[in-house]
Parts: sequence; C-alpha cells; structure tokens
Amino acid sequence: MKRSTWRRPPQPRRARHAPGAETLAQAALAVHAVVFEGRSADTALEAAHERIDRAAVRAIALGTLRWYLRLAPAIAPLSNRPFEELAPKLAALLVTAAHQVEYSRGAAEAQVHLAVDASRVIGEGRASGVVNAMLRRFVANRAESLAVADADVAQRHAHPRWLVDAIRQAWGERTESILAANNQHPPMVLRIADESGIDDFLRAWRASGRDARAVPWNPRAVVLERPAAVQTLPGFELGTVSVQDAGAQLAAPLLDARAGMRVLDACAAPGGKTLHIAQRTPDLAELVAIDDDPLRLVRVRENLQRAGRDALLVAADLTGMPPSFGKASFDRVLVDAPCSATGVIRRHPDIKLLRRAADIDGFAATQRRILDTAFELLRAGGTLIYCTCSVLPAENEAVVSAFLERRTDAAVAPWPDSAPRPPGLLERAVGWQLLPGGDAGTDGFYYACLTRHS
Ligand SMILES: C[S@@+](CC[C@H](N)C(=O)[O-])C[C@H]1O[C@@H](n2cnc3c(N)ncnc32)[C@H](O)[C@@H]1O
Repeated sequence: MKRSTWRRPPQPRRARHAPGAETLAQAALAVHAVVFEGRSADTALEAAHERIDRAAVRAIALGTLRWYLRLAPAIAPLSNRPFEELAPKLAALLVTAAHQVEYSRGAAEAQVHLAVDASRVIGEGRASGVVNAMLRRFVANRAESLAVADADVAQRHAHPRWLVDAIRQAWGERTESILAANNQHPPMVLRIADESGIDDFLRAWRASGRDARAVPWNPRAVVLERPAAVQTLPGFELGTVSVQDAGAQLAAPLLDARAGMRVLDACAAPGGKTLHIAQRTPDLAELVAIDDDPLRLVRVRENLQRAGRDALLVAADLTGMPPSFGKASFDRVLVDAPCSATGVIRRHPDIKLLRRAADIDGFAATQRRILDTAFELLRAGGTLIYCTCSVLPAENEAVVSAFLERRTDAAVAPWPDSAPRPPGLLERAVGWQLLPGGDAGTDGFYYACLTRHS
C-alpha cells in the first residue's frame, strides 16, 4: 500500500505563556533588582530581554516603583504567610501585578491570569496558587485594602517614612504637595540652544501632529505635551535641542560665564550643564569638565560632540586633584554636587526605595569636601555656583552656611538680573530652592551663588 505523503502543516508554536506575561515578569524582575538588590532602575531595566516590548516593561516597572510603598502594605495582609517571608521575586511580582490591577487600564481578572503565568516565567511556578489567591483577594477587596494603607500619610504617598519626616521638618505644610508632585509623571522638557529657535521648534513639532508649549519664565525651555523619543526631536542630532528640566537650565545663566573666561564644571557628567555652558558662551578661554566616573564622562563627550562643542575632560576625584591643578585660576566654577536626588523623584521613583536616612550625612560630607576643593580653584573676584537636585536643607543651605563660616574670603551673591527667575523660587537663609509641585513646574533644585574676594 502506498504510504500517504500527507504531512501535518506546520502549526503556529503555542506561546508558553499568555501574551503579556513575559512583559509583566520582566518588569517584576526589574522591581526585584531595585527593591531587594539595591540596583538603580536604569541598571535593572538594562537586563530586560530584547525580545520584549522594553517600553512596556519600563512603564510597568517605574509605575510599580512609584507606588511600591503604597501597594506592598496594601497587599501584605492578604498573604497567609508573613509577607516578608515570601521569596523576594514572588513579593516583587505580587506588587507589580497589584500595580497593574490598580493603575493599568487592563481588566483586573486578566491581570491575575497574567501574574499566574508570570510566576512561572520568573521561576516561582510552585507559588502560582499563592499568586492567584492573593491577587483575587486584592481584586475583591481593593478599596478596603488601599483605604487601610492610605490611612498612613507615608503609605498614601508611597514614600519612606524617614523621607516624609525630613521633608515635613524642612517644608511643613508644603509636605503633601511635594509628595504628590513626586508621584506625577514627569513632563519632558527641552532646552532650545538658540532662543530664537523656539518658534521654529514649536512650528515643526506642531506640523508633525504633536503639541508643546513654551515656558513663560524661561525663554529657552519647551515642555512637550507627551514624551517622545529623542531621535524624533527636530534639532536633537545637531545639538540645538537637548532634554533638560527647566530648573536645571538655570545653572548656566546663574554662572554667567563670559567670553575669554576659564570655566570649571566640577561634577560634570552626564554633561547637560557642560553643554549648556559651552553653547551659551562659545568663546570661553577654556572649559574644563571633571567627573570621577569615567563611564559617565563618556556621556559628556557625546553630549558635546552632538553639538560640535569641546571641553577638556578630566576623569578624576576633584577632591584628590594634585595641588598644581588650577589653584585659584578659574573665573567661574560650577559645583553640581552629588546628592540624594530627592528633587527628581518624579523622574526616578527608585530613589524612594534606594535611599536611606543615613545616606544624607554621607552626601553632606562629600558635598562639603567638594565645595571646599572647588572654591580653592576659583580666582579672587570669580563666581561659584553650588547646586543640587535635593530638597533637603542638610545638603543645601546647611552645607553652604557651614562653608561660609569656614571661609572668610567667600560671600553670597544675589540672583543675577540676567538669569531667568522662576515663579515660586524660595529664598533660603543662603541660596534659593525650587520645590517639586511649585509654581515653576520644575524638578526640585537648590542654587547658591558665591563669590571670592581676596
Ligand atoms: C548631579 S551629578 C552632575 C550632573 C551634571 N552636572 C549634569 O548636569 O549633567 C553629580 C556628578 O558628580 C560626580 N562626582 C561625585 N563625586 C565626585 C568627586 N569627588 N569628584 C568629581 N566628580 C564627582 C558623579 O559621578 C556625578 O556624575
């Protein structure tokens, strides 16, 4: 008998998991890396598999990190075992799935199914029953579970208690507005290198069917209606357009470098402010950019190259520079000091999970050392701008006030008339503070202008 040559046509391979389960699993693994391994969200997200919709993984992970400290206490009581005793990856998945139930548009039931599948992807398949049971309880009792968590102000705003206390101590009745602003999705803000280019940019952007608005108090800032990939920004490749919060755009005008000056950017990477200084004053005698992180310094080079600018880049710890390095020789020095970054939580929600109360003293000690060294490099008559993206006075006016007590040749300078003055700028004992949720709509920044006399 002739054997049949019929063959079963190739079947589409059955997906091993429901569509979306892999995305949820990758987001949960990133959340796990931040919460349980102390890695930054950016580093954790680099590990997301290339096959996956990385934008979706990023959005879910950052959303979960933003609300982790609200959602974890809301779901913890729904566990039969103490929540802290669950495997860390499982705990991260449960909070990530709870985020999807609470904050995504997808149907809650579907999110539970995805989470059960995702538990297998992350190697916690044996606990899929726990995932199913806990999330079903959450879906059924969501309002009550969240209401219990929300009775506590730190949990309601998903911030660590030490940070709420520190913000309250500094900012009193403004506290809740700062906490709420920290949980907003950040606007994408651009700096247009040439003030006259704003209209051209807005025209081109609107012609492409998208919208943006100029910032009334800052003649070079534009806020996009919706974030966009930088490659789609007209002028980005040429360096005429850069991504920079409107508050960060104040550093270069405050520094007010002029033609022929020697300028030092003492903590330069990734170079947003170095580029702004170079573009604002192209005919400097010299621009030196120092950073102690050689990998981040590469970003400074890339940023400058994009705009056809140059600077002398030095990979070194500023505080360990040899005495021969530029003592009292710079006309302008910018110290954008490493800090807690508590002013940029809306852009980096992982900060709420990574920082500890004890870190603040460490930052302040580093800031004091950097400020002391940087001031030595300033010539008499020169200007130094000290700034941070922190909202905590311990890293800001406390550092500068103590410095002024140590250095009798240092004085505080006023806000220059030539620099844009944002609404809601708060005058402090020394320097000025912008707060998240303030009238200017910026991230949180602190600025102090110092001069040196002989
Ligand atoms: C707030 S970031 C600077 C941001 C940068 N000015 C910009 O606008 O893109 C602080 C930088 O200080 C660097 N840094 C920290 N300690 C330093 C030190 N002792 N000497 C030099 N750079 C340091 C960090 O590597 C980090 O890149």
